[in-house]
Amino acid sequence: MSTTILSIESSCDETAAAIVVDGREVKSNIIYSQIELHKLYGGVVPEIASRKHVEKVNQVIRAAIEEAHVTWDDINAVAVTYGPGLVGALLVGVSAAKAVAYAKKKPLVGVHHIEGHIAANYIEHPDLEPPFMCMVASGGHSHLVYVKDYTTFEIVGRTRDDAAGEAFDKVARAIGLGYPGGSKIDKLAKEGNKEAIHFPRAFMEDAPYDFSFSGLKSAVLNYLNGCEMKHQEINRADVAASFQQAVVDVLTDNSVRAAKAYGCKKLALAGGVASNSSLRENMQRVASEQGLQFYYPSPIFCTDNAAMIGVAGYHNYMAGIRDGLDLNAIPNLKI
Ligand code: KG4
Ligand code: ZN
Repeated sequence: MSTTILSIESSCDETAAAIVVDGREVKSNIIYSQIELHKLYGGVVPEIASRKHVEKVNQVIRAAIEEAHVTWDDINAVAVTYGPGLVGALLVGVSAAKAVAYAKKKPLVGVHHIEGHIAANYIEHPDLEPPFMCMVASGGHSHLVYVKDYTTFEIVGRTRDDAAGEAFDKVARAIGLGYPGGSKIDKLAKEGNKEAIHFPRAFMEDAPYDFSFSGLKSAVLNYLNGCEMKHQEINRADVAASFQQAVVDVLTDNSVRAAKAYGCKKLALAGGVASNSSLRENMQRVASEQGLQFYYPSPIFCTDNAAMIGVAGYHNYMAGIRDGLDLNAIPNLKI
């Protein structure tokens, strides 16, 4: 018998619902992105995000069920992201999931957002099983996670300051690309020379798998200011390519070193920044050189989505994890 999960995600600015069967098969994956709204403000405005989630959450749930051609009888459990994220945004998804679980008498399963990002890798890679090392890099998080089994995780490294996606967004804004900047830098960098400007790569002596992006971000801003003061023309493509390469070098080096140190044969990438073409290529090359099998999800499963929450929710459900109707949103939820 198969196990069908209805999943809900609303931790930031995507209102999403999905139907996932047996933790791998995505029957539907509905994402309402609020990005056009937040663009006007140069970043996500939490209050606007919460209000939009309230407006959209029932629609996306209904659409996910319709598109998957399932009935409530087919659904075994309701999975929902309960942290980390914006508290008001999370509360909308959690409340909707609790209401559905109560009304339809379904078990409720809380899911950690980062565990969801990691689980996105299982969707298109049937051969991928733990243990493996996973670099989760998004707008809100940058964590290097050892995935011991489907529900056991160890944080091996983390950012000391900005998340990788945050650095992309801030640099994009500084060179006038607008928000969200990651994909725009990715595109512009293809026209630039990644060796044109040397930006710093920060490696921590006391915690060898931690990383930091605030020094890099400041170096880019200083470079731009310097050019302006000297009335020097700025080659934005070179700035984008050189900055991107600095991020890629740090993420790749830390991930591969950690995977080797933990005796992993597999390395995976996850989160919004995992869409970055240069990061994928670079990690693929270095991982192959080091004898590691390398995995990453399609862009649609890198960005925030509910299918990944359905996959992680399936594994929690199979492990017997259940939550009560007192499940709360936890903005700083730890893995
Ligand atoms: O996972 P995600 O959709 O949301 C969070 O959980 O934060 O990640 C969004 C982040 C943004 O900072 C965005 O600029 C970045 O992922 N991003 C990229 C690319 N596409 C999205 N960064 C670099 N290269 C890309 N192609
Ligand atoms: Zn995310």
